[in-house]
Formats: sequence, C-alpha cells, structure tokens
Amino acid sequence: MKKTFIALSLFAAAYATGQNTIVLNADKGKDIINKNIYGHFAEHLGHCIYGGLYVGDTNKTIPHKDGVRLDVIDALKKLKVPVLRWPGGCFADTYHWRDGVGNKKERPSMLNIWWGNVKEDNSFGTNEFLNMCELLGAEPYLSGNVGSGTPQELTDWVKYTTHPNGSSPMTDLRQTNGRSTPWKVPFWGLGNEAWGCGGNMKVEYYANIYRQFATFMTNWNNSDRIYRIASGASDDDYHWTEVLMKELPANMFDALGLHHYSVIEWGKKGPATNFTELEYFTTMKRALQMEELVTKHSAIMDKYDPQKKKSLAVDEWGGWYDVEPGTNGAFLFQQNTMRDAMIAGTTLNIFNNHCDRVKMANLAQIVNVLQAVVLTRDEKMILTPTYHVMEMYNVHQDAIMLPVAVNSKDYQLGNEKLPAVSVSASKDKNGITHISLVNIDANKPQEITVNINGATYKSVSGRILTSDKVQNYNSFENPEKIKPTGFSGASLTNSILRVKVPPFSVIVLELK
Ligand code: AHR
Repeated sequence: MKKTFIALSLFAAAYATGQNTIVLNADKGKDIINKNIYGHFAEHLGHCIYGGLYVGDTNKTIPHKDGVRLDVIDALKKLKVPVLRWPGGCFADTYHWRDGVGNKKERPSMLNIWWGNVKEDNSFGTNEFLNMCELLGAEPYLSGNVGSGTPQELTDWVKYTTHPNGSSPMTDLRQTNGRSTPWKVPFWGLGNEAWGCGGNMKVEYYANIYRQFATFMTNWNNSDRIYRIASGASDDDYHWTEVLMKELPANMFDALGLHHYSVIEWGKKGPATNFTELEYFTTMKRALQMEELVTKHSAIMDKYDPQKKKSLAVDEWGGWYDVEPGTNGAFLFQQNTMRDAMIAGTTLNIFNNHCDRVKMANLAQIVNVLQAVVLTRDEKMILTPTYHVMEMYNVHQDAIMLPVAVNSKDYQLGNEKLPAVSVSASKDKNGITHISLVNIDANKPQEITVNINGATYKSVSGRILTSDKVQNYNSFENPEKIKPTGFSGASLTNSILRVKVPPFSVIVLELK
C-alpha cells in the first residue's frame, strides 16, 4: 500500500517536471499476450510468394523443400511466427482455390489484376501453403473469397483442408492430390477489405453476405474448431465495427478485423530510405494512431461484448512508402530502416497493452512487400530492422501482460509533439519479466525511471537495436549493419530501474 503510494507520488511528480517515468505493476498481470499478435501476412503480390517464400520445386540454385526456400524458413522459425495469413489481401477476393490444387502442369493461369496484371500460374496453392505452414510451425489463416466467390466454394475449401478422409468429394480430391490427412486450419477470414477491393460493399450489405457465407462455412464434421474473422474496418471507420457487432450473430464470428497502415499521404508516400525528419515524424504520428484506433474500436466492441469473447484482429498493419526506384510500382517492394523498427516496437507495445481485446495481428507483409521482415534477391536474403524487433519481442508471446503507467517526455518537431517513450511488459511461464522500451525521438536520448510495484528483482540484462542514423538499413551489400547487441545501460536499485535509451532505439530488458 505504502509502496503504491510512493510510486503514485513519484509518477505525479514526474508528470509535473516532465520526466520519463514508468510504473510497472508486476503483481497486477491478468491477461495473456496472445502469441498471434506476432502474426504475419503473405499475399500473391510482387515477390512475396514467388522468389520470396517459394522458388519452385525444380529450382537448382536455391536450397528448398518442395519449392519453399529453406533460408527464409530458417530465419522465420527464429521469429517464432505463430500465424500466417494467405493468399491476400485484395488478391484473396479474386482467388479461386480450385485453380491452385492438383497437377501443376494442369493448373490454369490467371492475371493478378490487383498487383501489376502479372501472370499467376497457380504453382503455389493450398497444398503448398499449408505444407509450408507445417514446416514453419505456424498456424494458417486462410482468407476466403467473398467478393467474387460463392458460399459453396468457401465451404468446399473448408472441407478440402480440414475434414476427415472419406467424408466428401472434397476430401477425396485432397487424397488424390497427395494429402491423406486433414491439415489444421484454425483461422478463416470471410473476405478482405469488403469496403474496398473486396467488393466495395456497404457494411449493412456485407453483414448480410457474411451471415450467408458463415452459415455454410462450418466445421460440423470436424472436431477442430474454426475461428471466423469478419472483414473489419479501415482505420477510424467506427460505423463499420458498430454495424458488424450489432448485426452478426454471436455464434457466427470470433473476431473482427482492422486495417491500418502508417502512410504519410496515399498520393505522396515519400521514400523508404532517404526521408526527412518531418517524414519520419509524420510516419510515427500515423503509427501511434494505432493506440486511438484500438481503444475506440474496442470500446464499441465492449458495448456488445462486455465479456470480451470476441477479438479484434489487426490483420494488416505496417509502414507503406514509395517503392524502391527502378522496381515495379505494383510490387510494393520497399527497404526497411530504423524508422520501421520504431513502427514495429511502438505498435507491438500497443497490441501487448491491449491484449484483452487484440488477440491477433498480421504485419504486412512477410517477405519483399511493404514492411517486410525478410528481403530476398535471387539467392541472397537479408533480415530487416523490423525482423530484429519481432525477434527481440517474441519473449512476450503467450506471456502475462504486466500493466504499466507511462509518463513520457515529448518528441517535438516544430509545433507538434509525440510521446517519445513507448513501453510494454510481461511475465513469461518461467517467471521472467521482460520490458520492451522504445524511444522514437530522432535526436535526444531518454533517461527513464521505472518504479517497480509488486515484485523484487535481483538482476537486469538486455539487448538493444540502434544505429547512428534513423535512415539506416541492411542492404544486400551490408546485411548486418543493424542487428541487436547486448545492452548494459540499465541499473537496478531496490525497486527502481534506471535506463538510458539512445535516440530511435528499441531495448528489451530481462528482469530476474
Ligand atoms: O497489403 C497490401 C494491400 O493493402 C492488401 O492487399 C490490401 O488488403 C490492403 O489494402
């Protein structure tokens, strides 16, 4: 009681003097940080699939298993990717899964109308994706075609992938295609961006369509539960969330999606690497908006679902810039700098802190597209700063979230201000506490005092991701310019932890 009072007094004093002060409530954890918050997204877009994850089963130069690149899989395994969404994105609502199964020589080709009108030969289809998820140890999230598909097509996909052998012509087809046992496919999306590329629907109309598709898309022959995710709002479209919560029967959905990209202006996104401080600041402003979006969408969900049985799945998020000069404008290939590490660190802290409602998130996209964790060029592969943040943060997966109260100094540019410090904390199953700290200020280090309530720790250690310019990135020529290193700038005295965080840096501390 006394300790709490002292901590609160310190917090109030810090507020008055403009210091960075955090109160860590180490004994107040109750919600689990669902590991699926650390999920990813792979679309048939540019070189995400072809050249990124998949090089074809006849490739002689790049080591692969049934066409899936082993260097990329090995790197992704270290991230502990829990869930992978596929095949889109916008592509999903033009995708007909039957085109991508069976003998590859007989699979029809199509034009990928969303992403450059390139030829899609369907050589990477359902079997390839689900086998790759097994190799990776990730759970699949299939995004169903509601925009141009039919309820029959979607229910057939559920049967083909998850129903027991011999239960339908679809499971016979699966067996003919070389897979005798069902895969485990827990997560199903019913359309993507139904308000836009998924059919330009009004939410009232989509709610009806959703009910129709969901009715037939059941797992009634199968003991594995299907988790159905409705195509959610774009950014601050709160009406979308309100109508879905009101109109979807509770037994027909498990989560609503939400998409939010950190983009400066859709018509003027700016470069991925050679950006100004104003562009950096504006990107961070967009990224930090996630806090408000998650809070307000959750508040609407709370009205209809106070027990929080339904989740918010932020199934597309990340930074979006101009493509790299000289690359196909429809392929969305962009480099990844310390700015992206800042987006990743702050956004994951927001999701961790809202883990009572946010149970899944999928970074867009996993390889070679938008804020990728891995970039490939022919046989070369590099890990981006975003990769390193996801790897450092994976200690939070399935840990108990420890609530924090944060008083941050401002990162100021001109007349605008953003909180410089972002934080989240958790306790894992071995009793170890992890604190992830981000300082987004482009110029100033932050001295942070953490007042610990409800636990006593003997030691602190950690890792840091930092660099000397916020525009820095890993290139194919210099792939290890940015990588985590040991951090010794934290000291622990009784229940007070002091940390000095350099500008635009991410630190993960371990307290025992
Ligand atoms: O991630 C790229 C695209 O962004 C996705 O296909 C779409 O859902 C979103 O608009």
